[in-house]
Amino acid sequence: MKKYIVIYTSKRGSTKQYAEWIAEDLGCEALPLSNALRLDLHEYDCVIYGSWIRGSGIVDFDKFAKMLDADIMDHLLVFGVGFADETADNYAQVWGYSLGKIDPKNEHRVLMYILGGRYDPAAVTGLDKFLMKTMRAVLLSGSTKDAKSQANMMKDRIDNGCDMVKRENITSLVKDARKIAER
Ligand SMILES: Cc1cc2nc3c(=O)[nH]c(=O)nc-3n(C[C@H](O)[C@H](O)[C@H](O)COP(=O)(O)O)c2cc1C
Repeated sequence: MKKYIVIYTSKRGSTKQYAEWIAEDLGCEALPLSNALRLDLHEYDCVIYGSWIRGSGIVDFDKFAKMLDADIMDHLLVFGVGFADETADNYAQVWGYSLGKIDPKNEHRVLMYILGGRYDPAAVTGLDKFLMKTMRAVLLSGSTKDAKSQANMMKDRIDNGCDMVKRENITSLVKDARKIAER
């Protein structure tokens, strides 16, 4: 029996939902990062970290990264949950702010997934609300045709909310986690 662990950070529940579905499929625990900081991750055949995406960053990835070393990174899979589509630009940006910071040459070939999230504008307050207003303004300044059509879709999601959370989104992630555990 291979040993898995899913560690997550979630503000409004969608990442938690994905973490629980993944853990159910792999027959393991899903723990919030705050409850996982003392775990020895060497004990697991595959470690999964998932968090919500905020300003293209995987939230608390830096905190989680303090638990890693080269061996663990060879058995790691990361996912971010957001409302932006998984375009090459978005993927590269999210990767650059997370895995790219600790493995810039991608030597450990850590797989990163971006899963469709949930956004309710009415639930966003304080600093998050301010950041969202800024993001909306920056998006609207996109120049290329592609950037413009993506930006319009994002603007619609920011203004009206969206829910892209579906269990089927985890299918290939779970398959990849099983492959990683066999390494
Ligand atoms: C302040 C703020 C910034 C966000 N920035 C991004 C972003 O840059 N890219 C993205 O894809 N989603 C972004 N999102 C969307 C959320 O990450 C998404 O809705 C996610 O599902 C929330 O996860 P949770 O339910 O686990 O908290 C942002 C949301 C908020 C509130």
